[in-house]
Amino acid sequence: MSERPVAPDRRRSSVGSTASGGGAGPNDPGGAGRRSRTVVSVAVVDSLVGARLRLHVDGVAAGGACVARHEGRVVFVRHALPGERVLAVVTEDRERYLRADAVEIEDASPDRVPAPCPYATPGRCGGCDWQHATGVAQRRLKAEVIAQQFARIAGLDLDGTVGPLTVEELPGGLLGWRSRITFAVDAAGRPGLHRHRSHDLEHVASCPLGVVGVGDTPALARSWPGQTGIEAVRGDGPEVTLLAHRPGPGRQARGRRPPDRVSVVEGPPEVRHTVLGRPYTVAAGGFWQVHPAAADAFAQALLDALAPQPGERVVDLYAGSGAFTVVLADAVGPSGSVIGVESAAGAVADAERNLADRPWARIQRARVDAGLVAGLVAEVGPPDLVVLDPPRAGAGADVLRALTAAGPRAIGYVSCDPATLARDVAAAVGAGWRLAGLRAFDAFPMTAHVECVATLRPETHPDRADHSP
Ligand SMILES: C[S@@+](CC[C@H](N)C(=O)[O-])C[C@H]1O[C@@H](n2cnc3c(N)ncnc32)[C@H](O)[C@@H]1O
Repeated sequence: MSERPVAPDRRRSSVGSTASGGGAGPNDPGGAGRRSRTVVSVAVVDSLVGARLRLHVDGVAAGGACVARHEGRVVFVRHALPGERVLAVVTEDRERYLRADAVEIEDASPDRVPAPCPYATPGRCGGCDWQHATGVAQRRLKAEVIAQQFARIAGLDLDGTVGPLTVEELPGGLLGWRSRITFAVDAAGRPGLHRHRSHDLEHVASCPLGVVGVGDTPALARSWPGQTGIEAVRGDGPEVTLLAHRPGPGRQARGRRPPDRVSVVEGPPEVRHTVLGRPYTVAAGGFWQVHPAAADAFAQALLDALAPQPGERVVDLYAGSGAFTVVLADAVGPSGSVIGVESAAGAVADAERNLADRPWARIQRARVDAGLVAGLVAEVGPPDLVVLDPPRAGAGADVLRALTAAGPRAIGYVSCDPATLARDVAAAVGAGWRLAGLRAFDAFPMTAHVECVATLRPETHPDRADHSP
């Protein structure tokens, strides 16, 4: 529901094109990523950007906004909560939807709290989505989003499939959990954090999400000319490593920046972590779960769900520095085997070092795809268990079909994106498997991000006993 807006004074161009579509992408408001194209028509239409709308906010949407309606169009409203009546300023006007920031809360949700961070307000830092909600409400909203994604993308009713989902809290609270933050650096060398959907930076004095030494790194008070980012990283110890990001060589498609060159500026080049009591050493610039309690929680969830047995064969895809590979190797013991697959050379080197005492586990440098899965099965035989933990894009339907065809007794899928997880679960279900379990963890408090651990099992498995719960 909405009132008519105050007439906006801005207008937008609608650009027709024979080739590459409309204007710059949502993360490219300055047009830095535009490529040349043939403009066949230019129409000027009214835009609501800048208009103030009175909105009744309905449910939550993926990505840290809530949903409202204005004259039949969906409005994605940030800084709001379901059930609230707000005054919101339109920040983006698209053909089928609007984006807006709630700037005045006329009827507040009981879940609302004052944001602890002074930068977490409309138009300022875009790093957090839910600073204005209690922790309980944040986790409830994330559970709702996961359920929505599974219903919409996989056609699965989670309540009916695995029972009501709760997002589990990790120890440590809502603040002071980020063990790694990359601050962007502007053309003048000043570090900061990006505003929401913008290249502009908020020059924060500190970030309360960071652990001590990371969120309040002295690097924020320094100038970093010629760099694209400055990253502060801490392992289990008190030492903090600073990494400089410089523009990488070459060009990327669609105006994207090539990957940065990353080098240590100060602090130890390697950091130490533990998972379920086991020690790991990882390059400071390498991959590790950002929340200090996350690797333990996910590894234990995998053990609980899959119950790996001595002597079993396990494949650990997207293995990173071996966080799960080591734990799985200990579970199957020397009579079993674990093969980890990872594409990044540095992570492979770290994983090899972390696995050195377990010769029945090895790491293979390769890109995971359906062909690699088929090749592994041909080389070492069908696995009993598969673990996968892909980046946000997910593994893809082809990989899931290849994994289910390999015939393991179960698959444990760790995912930081419920949408791509739902897509991949749907592929497994299409291959005659079922979603047998789903846990979710609040590994990114104050943000809209959430981590899931899904268990997939074949509908029936004639050959092998399944020891897991
Ligand atoms: C989310 S991380 C998981 C790492 C590890 N499981 C952990 O928890 O520390 C994903 C990893 O997949 C790797 N990766 C990304 N795409 C890949 C691909 N196509 N094939 C193999 N590894 C890939 C990345 O380098 C990264 O180490």
